[in-house]
Amino acid sequence: MTNQGISHYPTIFATFIQKTDAHYRMQVQENVSLKPYNSFGIEADAKYFAEVTSVADLQKLLKDSRYLDATKLILGGGSNVLMTGHFDGIVIKMNIKGIEEIRKDEAHTWLRIGAGENWHQFVLNTIDRGLSGVENLSLIPGTVGAAPMQNIGAYGVELCEVFEKLEAVEISSGKVEHFDHDTCHFGYRESIFKKELKGRHIITHVTLRLNNQPSFNTSYGAIKQVLEERNITELSTRAISDAVIHIRQSKLPDPRVIGNAGSFFKNPVISIEEFNRLQAAFPEVPHYPQSDGTIKVPAGWLIEQAGWKGKRVGHTGVHDRQALVLVNHGGAQGHEVVELAKSIQASVKEKFGIGIRPEVNII
Ligand code: EPU
Repeated sequence: MTNQGISHYPTIFATFIQKTDAHYRMQVQENVSLKPYNSFGIEADAKYFAEVTSVADLQKLLKDSRYLDATKLILGGGSNVLMTGHFDGIVIKMNIKGIEEIRKDEAHTWLRIGAGENWHQFVLNTIDRGLSGVENLSLIPGTVGAAPMQNIGAYGVELCEVFEKLEAVEISSGKVEHFDHDTCHFGYRESIFKKELKGRHIITHVTLRLNNQPSFNTSYGAIKQVLEERNITELSTRAISDAVIHIRQSKLPDPRVIGNAGSFFKNPVISIEEFNRLQAAFPEVPHYPQSDGTIKVPAGWLIEQAGWKGKRVGHTGVHDRQALVLVNHGGAQGHEVVELAKSIQASVKEKFGIGIRPEVNII
């Protein structure tokens, strides 16, 4: 994709949709560069672009006849997408804000959070409130609304463990629907919104149930190690959060410095038979048995063993400290990253007989 003739700034052709409702005043821009809105830092442009700050504005935008048939792409922090070219539809940047305490009992506090809140800022906010449950998920890029989509997880904790419910607008009807824990069908980096209901809803608010009394999760070896190195004997949510921030900063590239979308691939989950074959050939393979009898194998290890760690191909490459992360060394186009991903998938398949799939949404 080239971007000739398209300014990096929104070509200022702003459509103000003003209906009888005085509160509905939304700016829909045309030919907007998405580079500032995707953490890979890939140059791509969208035909239409709108920022939404309320449920009412979102519903009105969805009803607007000009955009009814347009393909819709919902962007939160843009930290889990790979743009591969011109997007011939409407990008809806979710910007609904607010953190509201809606209930409290002896053990728990329920917070209802606008989908557009930055995830990490929200985590810090819970720590300031003296709540625990999400400190292990510190520094995950992206927004609160995107968190349930892929059931974000890190360092022994997954979002589904604190998830209570969410509100989402159904795109075709414009109606607000409620989803509780069970109806979200959470799995490893999965939810109903990536499967059966893919592309059908826009998450506007998420309600999480946090603990009033901390229940620390230090099961992940690297956290224990950092706490020991820092001589921390008295645990606190802040100490865990700081340890996680330290680990992430030492292993994962900062998207503001080097474009990336975190783990590019999911860790493959294989059957015990497949695993036994793999382990016979590679006895040192790290692995994590799952509760259903399957085995999760770290894709980062497979990619490193296949010789890709730190490799550079044109403007793209594999991060030198975490092989699961593909990076934009500057000026990369989306299709270059896709090509690199395909080469990696092919060589992992050839060496280990295991297929690995992208975690990132390729648009
Ligand atoms: N490994 C290697 N080489 C590598 C990377 C990893 O050999 O280049 C090995 C490690 O030595 C370790 C194992 O693979 O034995 C697991 O590595 P790590 O602890 O770094 O975790 P991961 O499975 O590679 C997952 C998440 C990360 C999350 C970490 C920590 C996925 C797809 N990724 O990575 O999430 O931060 O666990 O909990 O599940 C993200 O989604 O963007 C993300 C960064």
